[in-house]
Amino acid sequence: MHIRQRGRSVECRTVTYDPSRNTVHLIEQRLLPHQFKIVGLRDYVSTARAITDMVVRGAGAIGATAAFGLAQGARSFSGSGLVRFRKHVDLVYRTLAEARPTAVDPVNAMRQILARMQQGRTVASQVSLAVQAAQAFAEEDVSHCAAIGDIGSPLIQEGMNVLTHCNAGWLAFVDIGSATAPMYAAHALGRTFHVYCDETRPRCQGASLTAWELANQGISHQVIADNAAGFLFSRGEIDLVIVGSDRVLGRTGEVANKIGTYTKAVLAHRHDIPFYVAIPLSTIDWDLASGAEIPIEQRSPEEVLGAWGMTRAGKRQYVRIANPSSGALNPGFDVTPPELITGIITPLGIFRPSELWKMRDRLRVGTGSDAM
Ligand code: MRU
Repeated sequence: MHIRQRGRSVECRTVTYDPSRNTVHLIEQRLLPHQFKIVGLRDYVSTARAITDMVVRGAGAIGATAAFGLAQGARSFSGSGLVRFRKHVDLVYRTLAEARPTAVDPVNAMRQILARMQQGRTVASQVSLAVQAAQAFAEEDVSHCAAIGDIGSPLIQEGMNVLTHCNAGWLAFVDIGSATAPMYAAHALGRTFHVYCDETRPRCQGASLTAWELANQGISHQVIADNAAGFLFSRGEIDLVIVGSDRVLGRTGEVANKIGTYTKAVLAHRHDIPFYVAIPLSTIDWDLASGAEIPIEQRSPEEVLGAWGMTRAGKRQYVRIANPSSGALNPGFDVTPPELITGIITPLGIFRPSELWKMRDRLRVGTGSDAM
């Protein structure tokens, strides 16, 4: 996407890989919106840590980071023995897969890379295939998001108010985003509309990242407190909800997304407002049989008990908000049942959640899933 840097418009992607230096480059998202910085990770352990520590976050972005991390790890192997190489690649895969548990995209992306590597007969050819497959995954993520924009933009009509939760924008993918793709496409078509960004406590991805993205694109928006959405629904001030997802179950249509999504889906249902979930195909999990099986990341209590911000002097600082002697519970994600979801916007069309399983032969293409 275009961002403004020192008064100039610059084209930028969230995740890139430099094969000549075997380095993964990421936007340091913890500094946004106050500071724009790109960091280089020179080995797969640092790349996995960047996922865990949320330097990079969002399903598609961590999927592409894991894909590049796997290629990076494979390239760092010295020797030509295939048995040792496979053990090494297995360790790289597990390190990256365990970096964060809820989004399925990293595992789907890495399965895609591993399948492609099987076509090589030597270590050198498998390494080269891994790099090609990781680059292909990143390109596929971009093309899927572009298609979501084309397919989803008719949902956003002139003058509408659209609610989104957390950040499923280009920062959460390689480019464009999933929930934001229809917004960017509708904006490019000249439609005017307004976006409410849930602030999305505790990490405030809506207030810091989605708002920063929309401001850069010149799209009318306001940040609202998470608790304000019900009031706006009750006043008829929300016409449409579009969110992203970290894992959609192909078998049931259940949607895991940032904590608070379920609450918004219940509110949308209560007020008869359409609730859409936008995803690339790498976000579909074809294996799990129930949303209860989705691993929900439990995050640090510190995120709930305080907040990060920028001081007037330009220093990033954590401040304690909660009572000093109190603890906190911090589940990072929740699961929305299919009956609350109007449609899943995919690169291949908009489907009801219950249709995913019927459409599995088409939707599984390119996901690398070997389920069923
Ligand atoms: O914890 P995060 O920031 O990695 O959470 C991921 C998300 O940004 C959201 O859950 C998002 O809505 C879906 S990911 C495209």
